Amino acid sequence: MKVQLPPAIARLLGSATIRRSQNWRGCRKIISATSLHVCTQTLFSRTDDAFFATWCPRMTPDTIRLTVNGKVHDIAVAPATPLLYVLRNDLELNGAKFGCGLGECGACTVVIDGVAARSCVVPVGSCTQRHITTLEGLGTRERLDPLQAAFIENQAAQCGYCLNGMIMTAKALLLRNAHPSEREIREALRYNLCRCGTHVEIINAVMAAAGRQPSSGSDRDAAI
Ligand code: FES
Repeated sequence: MKVQLPPAIARLLGSATIRRSQNWRGCRKIISATSLHVCTQTLFSRTDDAFFATWCPRMTPDTIRLTVNGKVHDIAVAPATPLLYVLRNDLELNGAKFGCGLGECGACTVVIDGVAARSCVVPVGSCTQRHITTLEGLGTRERLDPLQAAFIENQAAQCGYCLNGMIMTAKALLLRNAHPSEREIREALRYNLCRCGTHVEIINAVMAAAGRQPSSGSDRDAAI
C-alpha cells in the first residue's frame, strides 16, 4: 500500500508517495526530510538582521573600510568573505586570480602592509586599517613597475595565470630586500605554482629587477 506524502516532504524526497512495506527505511527518510524542511524553513523565513547577527555574526553584512592601491572604499560585505572576492567582484580589480581557493597556489597573491598574502584565504574583515596593494597598484600601462617591465623583457610568461602571484610575491621580496640573491628569489617564489614551466624566465626577470645578472646554467645549479 502507498502512503501519500505532504507536498513539501515529497519535494525533498523526490517522490509523492512511499510504500508502506518500506516502513522503517521510509520512516527514516520522512524524519530526515521533515527535519531538513523545518531547518530550512526556520533559517530562510528568518532573514532579519538580528537573527543572523546572533547566529551567524561573521556572515552578517557589515560596512568594511578597505584601503586598496591608495584609495579608500567602504564596502557592505560579510567580514568572513575572502578578500579576493571583494577585490574582483566589488572593486573590479581582476589582477589577482582564483586558482585553488585554498592558499596553495599563490595565483591570488596581493601585498598587505608590505607582505605577500594569499587573498583567497584572508577574511576581508581582517583587512581594515591595512594597506592593500594589488597588481593594478604597481604601475600603469604607460609607466610599468620595473618588475613588470622585467617580466616583459624576459618573456617570463606562458599562459600567464600564475603571473599575478609571481609578480606580487617578488614585489614583497624586493620591498624588504632590494637586491636579493638568486637563492633568496627562489626561496620567496618556492610556493607559487606555475604549470607551464616558465620558472627560469621568471627567476631571470626578478634577478633583472633586482639589478642582478641572471646566472649561467652552471652558476644556477650551484645556487640551488
Ligand atoms: Fe589563493 Fe590558490 S587561489 S592560493
